[in-house]
Amino acid sequence: MSENNPKKILLINGSPKGDRSLTFRVGRAFAEGLSAEEGSGIEYIHVSQLNVKPCTGCLSCWGRTEGTCVIKDDSIPMVRERILAADTIIMCFPIYFFGMPGTMKTMIDRLLGIFITFSGQEIDNIKEGRHALRSPRPGQRLAVIASCGFSESAEAFYPIKVQYDLCIGTGKYASFCCPQLKALAQAGSGQRFEKILDLSRQAGTQFAHGAIDGELVKKLEKPVLTQKTYRMLMEKFWKDEKGGEY
Ligand SMILES: Cc1cc2nc3c(=O)[nH]c(=O)nc-3n(C[C@H](O)[C@H](O)[C@H](O)COP(=O)(O)O)c2cc1C
Repeated sequence: MSENNPKKILLINGSPKGDRSLTFRVGRAFAEGLSAEEGSGIEYIHVSQLNVKPCTGCLSCWGRTEGTCVIKDDSIPMVRERILAADTIIMCFPIYFFGMPGTMKTMIDRLLGIFITFSGQEIDNIKEGRHALRSPRPGQRLAVIASCGFSESAEAFYPIKVQYDLCIGTGKYASFCCPQLKALAQAGSGQRFEKILDLSRQAGTQFAHGAIDGELVKKLEKPVLTQKTYRMLMEKFWKDEKGGEY
């Protein structure tokens, strides 16, 4: 990639908390690690700042209009253009009820036209993903970064992984889910959270050279606090918050 045409990273932050989101901070550290290594620029989309109308299910983008959505008076045309132009897309979001936040899902539904028409793809091809891209960008990569409040990140992240495996293909994207984020950010001086940011930055550096090492993913997904400390911190946090201002 020439200096005049640097690679682009697009970080899509699906947390309703915008840039106050802890998951966003983990995603941004990853993007910074990647960017420092490959000299790419980082663009941000905060889903909370978008105006996104829900998909009406008309399927025009798969037939009549060949890829574009018939709704044009909201943020989706801009999002679509930036996704298609990105070399790396990082989707980060907190887990809500074992899924992604509704606003993020609403945005993704509206991007159906990026994928080719479903024509009865075989379940045997599941490793390839059930939906292929309409206009694949050579070398384009995806990383999915989530966080959850609970300690059991594997359980919380499982439904999301199944969703991405089915849509994108098993092993075709990088991913990790950090547990206990809220408790970590509250604990002590936040040093434990800073450590997660460091690990995520390292993951971005590794991603620039191929895949994130399995051992590093394990560290990112391992609960830092014991269940006893976690419970104590959270109980104290909710108690102190009672009656406070939003
Ligand atoms: C509506 C809602 C639902 C949630 N559901 C879950 C859940 O199912 N499992 C879980 O571990 N955490 C759940 N959480 C906690 C968040 O995933 C967690 O606090 C996250 O780390 C916040 O990240 P953020 O600062 O980026 O928003 C939920 C939070 C909210 C607001």
